Amino acid sequence: MDDFQYRNGQLFAEEVNINDLVASVGTPAYIYSKRTLTSHYDRLTEAFKEIDPIICYSIKSCSNLHLCKLLAERGSGMDVVSGGELYRAQLAGADMSKVVFAGVGKTDAEIKQGIDAQIGYFNIESEAEFENIAAIAQKMGKTTHAALRVNPDVADPRTHAKTTTGKKETKFGVDIERAKQFFKSYGHNPHCRPTAIHLHIGSPIYSPEPYVQAIKKALLLINDLRADGFTIDALDIGGGFAADYETGQSPAWTEYAQAIIPLVKDKGLKIILEPGRTISANAGILVTEVQYLKTGGSKKFVIVDTGMHHLIRPAMYEAFHFIWPTQVDPTQQPAKRTESPDLPGLELTDVVGPVCESSDVFAKQRPMPPVQRGDLLAIFTAGAYGMVMASHYNTNPFPPEVLVDGDQATIIRRRETYEELVEAEQQTQPVAIYS
Ligand code: LLP
Repeated sequence: MDDFQYRNGQLFAEEVNINDLVASVGTPAYIYSKRTLTSHYDRLTEAFKEIDPIICYSIKSCSNLHLCKLLAERGSGMDVVSGGELYRAQLAGADMSKVVFAGVGKTDAEIKQGIDAQIGYFNIESEAEFENIAAIAQKMGKTTHAALRVNPDVADPRTHAKTTTGKKETKFGVDIERAKQFFKSYGHNPHCRPTAIHLHIGSPIYSPEPYVQAIKKALLLINDLRADGFTIDALDIGGGFAADYETGQSPAWTEYAQAIIPLVKDKGLKIILEPGRTISANAGILVTEVQYLKTGGSKKFVIVDTGMHHLIRPAMYEAFHFIWPTQVDPTQQPAKRTESPDLPGLELTDVVGPVCESSDVFAKQRPMPPVQRGDLLAIFTAGAYGMVMASHYNTNPFPPEVLVDGDQATIIRRRETYEELVEAEQQTQPVAIYS
C-alpha cells in the first residue's frame, strides 16, 4: 500500500519519524514518500509488461515537478490537460512523444504549444476541436497525431457522480455511435492524423470489469474502422485505477492487467495507460496540528490547522480519507485503515478545518484515539488530488511539500508566505482600451 507505517505507535514516512520532520517543516505539510511513488510506477509497469504499454502518468493527480521528474526518469510519459501541465511535463524532462493531451476546451495557444512540442497525441474531445487542431497544424505547416476520445457509455456504479466520465451525456469525448462518422469526415486528414482511440471512463474504477466492457466496445469500433480502410495503431485506455483509501480497497495492478491484457494483446495496437492516483494517492499524506477541541451538542470536534482549502476531496466528493494521530499508544496503532477501526479507547470524533463553510469537514463521527491541542494528525492517501486542488480560500497560504527518501527529507515546494499571496495584486497597471 505505502511507506507511511507505524512503529511502536509512531508514524514514519520510510525511515523518517513524522513528528521529527514536522518539528522542522511545521504544519500543515504535504509529505510524500519517494519509495511509494516510484515502486507504484514500477509495479504497474511490471504488471503490464507483456504488452509493453506507454504509461502516461496523469500529472493532474499530483504535479509537483520533482515528483514528475522522478517518474520521467523512469521512462514515464505524461497525460496533460492544460498548457500549464504540458509546461510541467517539459520541465520534468518527459519524452514528448509519450505525452497525451486531453481536455474538452484546449485553447489555440495550448494547441500550438502541443504541436510545437511534438507531443504523441491530442486526445480529441469533439468534432469542432478536431477541426481547430487540424487548421492550426496546417497553418503551422506541421502534422500532428490524434486519438479520438470515444464515450463508451460505461461506468462503475461505485465511482462518484462528479468523477464519472464514460457515460453518455457527460461533456467528455464523442458518443461511440458517432465515431465512424468522425473517421469518414476526418480519418484521412493530412495535418492532424487520427490514428488512435482513447477511453477514460472515470475514476476511481474499483474493478477491472468496466474497463473490459469499454475496451470490448472500442475493439469492435477499431475492427470496423480498419475494415473501412482507416489506420488505427493505438488504444489509450485512460486512467482511473483505484488507490487504497481503505486498506485493500483497490484491486492489485495484476488484477487489472490480467483482465485487460488478453483483450488487447496481438491486436497490432500500442496500448497507452494514463494512471494518476494509483501511483500518487498513497504516496502522500497531509499532516496537520490539532488547534482546539470543542463540543457541539453531543458531538466532539477536533479543529485542525488545515481544511478544504488544502484538501477538498471530503468536501467535494464526500471522499473518505483515513485520519489518525501520528503518535499513539501502541495498542491504538491501526492495523488497517478503515472507517470503523476496532481498537480500544476510541471516541467518536468530527475532524474539521478552520474555513468558514460547514462543508469544511474531514471526518464525521469517526472512531479515533482522543487527542489534545498540539497533537499531530496524518490524513492519509492525500497524494492525489490534494495539493493540486488546493486554493487560497480565506487567504490561506499553500502548505509546503516535502519528499522523503529513506532517512532523508527535502522540501520540494516551500511554504508560501503572506507576501507571495498578495504579490500579484500589488502589481496594478492601467489597461489600454482600444475602441
Ligand atoms: N486520464 C484522463 C483523461 C482523466 O480525466 C483523468 C482524471 C485521468 C486520466 C487520471 O485518473 P486517475 O488515474 O488519477 O484516477 N479530483 C477527483 C478526480 C478527478 C479525475 C479527473 N480525471 C478526485 O479527487 O477524486
